[in-house]
Amino acid sequence: MKLEDKVLRILENSRRIFVSGSDIARKLNVSRMAVSKAIMNLRKRGYVIESHPRLGYRYVEVDDLRLLDSYIRDINTKLNFKVLYFEEVSSTQDVAFSLINSGVSEGTIIIAERQTKGRGRLGRKWLSPMGGLWFTIILTPSISPNYVTLLSLMTGCAVALGIQDITNVRPELKWPNDVLINGRKVAGILVEMLAEADRLRYALVGVGINVNNEIPKEVSDSAISLQQVLGRGIPRIPLMRAILRRFDELYQRLVRGDVNSILKVWRSLSSTLGRRVIVYLGEKTIEGIALDVDEDGALIVKVNGEVRKVYSGDVVHLRFRK
Ligand code: BTN
Repeated sequence: MKLEDKVLRILENSRRIFVSGSDIARKLNVSRMAVSKAIMNLRKRGYVIESHPRLGYRYVEVDDLRLLDSYIRDINTKLNFKVLYFEEVSSTQDVAFSLINSGVSEGTIIIAERQTKGRGRLGRKWLSPMGGLWFTIILTPSISPNYVTLLSLMTGCAVALGIQDITNVRPELKWPNDVLINGRKVAGILVEMLAEADRLRYALVGVGINVNNEIPKEVSDSAISLQQVLGRGIPRIPLMRAILRRFDELYQRLVRGDVNSILKVWRSLSSTLGRRVIVYLGEKTIEGIALDVDEDGALIVKVNGEVRKVYSGDVVHLRFRK
């Protein structure tokens, strides 16, 4: 176990009570410097740890999304995140669309406790009861509209890594951006955009994560919540902080044009590559081996010796690898 995880365990066990840096250091037989470095790393991962000059450190499990804006002030991202919280909306994507003509700034996040008409990819509905994370990030990147698939792959990576930072569980990505744990969907991403000729005006990055919400019966064999995976509730504020940090880091690479490093991260998290897959492309389907993703984010599939590129569609992983 890494030192920072040992420190975290001590803080978690002394819930709501301050523990001094020297007590932690003594228990773990390390220096106080090492403890303060571990605390810094835990904060970087998203955890909310308060410090007091005399009392030491205290771990806070904040879940109340109304407080999110105040808890992301210190995360040091290049994107200037600002949160607009709603108790209930039709879809955070709709709210984001309605705001873009009022000069809303890049990094604005629309988040809601519940959505009544959540939207998924390919015209599907997305059930969004309370307890999950349903949000849209408004972006105005100066990238070509062709980068939109990459933006959604990148978001899948940020969500998977953020979940790993907070839970130590490593999710897998199914192309393009389903986030899976044990083969079941824990999060999905929907990127919508407003483009003019060859310029992207707005990208609305919608993220839905099953955190502590009930999984509706109709999707219970294909979806899973983090609460089900871990057998305990996960405070949503640290999780959001972790995801936003990861998102910011990867987004900076994308706007710099560093596509390869994004693809590298995606490949390392992917459970699609090397797999036999069926791809549903509207009316048609193809079956083959998923070989790679290219610099547009398209999936490269080998079908009967022929290499095909898939830009959008639904992938089903077949049981056997090649
Ligand atoms: C998918 O996997 O089909 C994508 C699901 C995206 C759901 C999120 S929840 C927040 C945002 N608002 C929506 O209506 N949809 C996205």
